[in-house]
Amino acid sequence: MRVAVVGKGGAGKSMVAGTIARMVAQRGERVLALDGDPMPGLARSLGTVDTSEPLLADAVERKERGPWLLKRGIGPVTAIRRYAREAPDGVLLLQIGKITLEDHPAFLAAVQAYWQLVHRLEEARSLESWTFIGDTPAGPRQIAADFSPYADTYLLVVEPTWPSVLTARRAAKLARMREARVLPVANKVRQAGDRKVLEDRLGEPVVATIPFDEEIKQAERLGVPLIDHAPASRGAKVIEQIVERIETRA
Ligand SMILES: Nc1ncnc2c1ncn2[C@@H]1O[C@H](COP(=O)(O)OP(=O)(O)O)[C@@H](O)[C@H]1O
Ligand SMILES: [Mg+2]
Repeated sequence: MRVAVVGKGGAGKSMVAGTIARMVAQRGERVLALDGDPMPGLARSLGTVDTSEPLLADAVERKERGPWLLKRGIGPVTAIRRYAREAPDGVLLLQIGKITLEDHPAFLAAVQAYWQLVHRLEEARSLESWTFIGDTPAGPRQIAADFSPYADTYLLVVEPTWPSVLTARRAAKLARMREARVLPVANKVRQAGDRKVLEDRLGEPVVATIPFDEEIKQAERLGVPLIDHAPASRGAKVIEQIVERIETRA
């Protein structure tokens, strides 16, 4: 699977991405989780301790005012070995890291390192059978800036609100320009009519509807991943169906 999860801030991207990563890993597959968000949320939804350090800054160097380039000998496999953090079920997490004010140059270096590494993921034969699942910052900007070139599928997480739908429409267009498959998913749906309203506004049907689920809220409050807190919840069940849908390649 080669998936990027996109949508407006708060739509549920990190929750969905983290849950999918853990589900796939629990089946025994190798999973690389990628967090390109400078306000990262994936570590938490996977169930690992977050770090604000831009670890990837160490992977690049530059000559005077030249561009940041990956250090000799550092490609995706080495970078994963050195800089990825381990999450439960063996998921490995590579992330830009939190935007910092203390050491902003290091953050900028990490952004460059991340961008270059995601562009080289496909060249690593040993990663061919891995699942890549990427969390992205709110909105369509990072799709346009080519931060998820590994994705052949974009999971569009949409709430039934206008701002969320407008962001999703733009993101869907950008993803389709890349000839990727777009799978819209309704999230936080509270009433029967919400899905229909969302689809009308979005201009296309959704492939799954995740209800507003108190278990998801509670998992967040406890700081525990959904899959550990309530694996049999309605929300988790729908996310399982989404994984199946991604795998059908339809
Ligand atoms: N289906 C849902 N039901 C209830 N709460 C949800 C649901 N999906 C997400 N949330 C909550 O919404 C908030 C935002 O989710 P998050 O995954 O961080 O969004 P994003 O990464 O898109 O900004 C979190 O508090 C999360 O627990
Ligand atoms: Mg997030």
